[in-house]
Amino acid sequence: MNAVRPVCIMAISLPLLAGGCDDMSKQDRENPYASRNSAPADIAQGTVPYHDAPHPVPPLTAGLLQRGRSEYHAFCAPCHAETGNGDGMVVQRGFPAPLPLVTPDGHALPSRHVYDVITVGQGIMYGFAQRIAPEDRWAIVAYLHALARSQHATRADMTPEQQASAQ
Ligand code: HEC
Repeated sequence: MNAVRPVCIMAISLPLLAGGCDDMSKQDRENPYASRNSAPADIAQGTVPYHDAPHPVPPLTAGLLQRGRSEYHAFCAPCHAETGNGDGMVVQRGFPAPLPLVTPDGHALPSRHVYDVITVGQGIMYGFAQRIAPEDRWAIVAYLHALARSQHATRADMTPEQQASAQ
């Protein structure tokens, strides 16, 4: 009887232990899977883990957009292209083409989704948590909204000075 007992205790406590680990993984901290190529096996396909607490969204300024533009050109445009349509230089050399980051009607993908994909990657795209600081990830997100909008800009979006110089 005595020999059986520890086994029973193990059998009961293991699921509890596993549950405990899950809770810990939801605590606020840097995401340990950030530099992996894909989400860990227990994360549903097409989703990203949410235990990397988002950095507060910085206020939208011209400086933030400029920062986002240069970060996007450095880290994303090689694959996603300067236009966001997904035929960047790396793709032209044979890397699988991503879907466009801007919709045909001029919208960027949802901000939080883009922030999370930059952080942990998605599918064959690796994450950038080690290389792009959280504020700069939001800067890229902001820039993508501006990029999407710019592709559907009309004369009405221009300042009077711009309209004059575009004639
Ligand atoms: C090495 C090429 C490469 C680089 C560099 C790259 N991506 Fe990607 N990205 C991809 C590919 C390929 C996919 C599609 C991945 C999949 O689902 O298998 C993708 C997917 C995405 C998605 C998901 C799109 C969707 O439809 O849900 C977003 C958002 C994204 N990338 C943003 C970025 C941003 C922002 C950067 C720069 C910080 C970046 N990517 C850098 C190749 C790249």
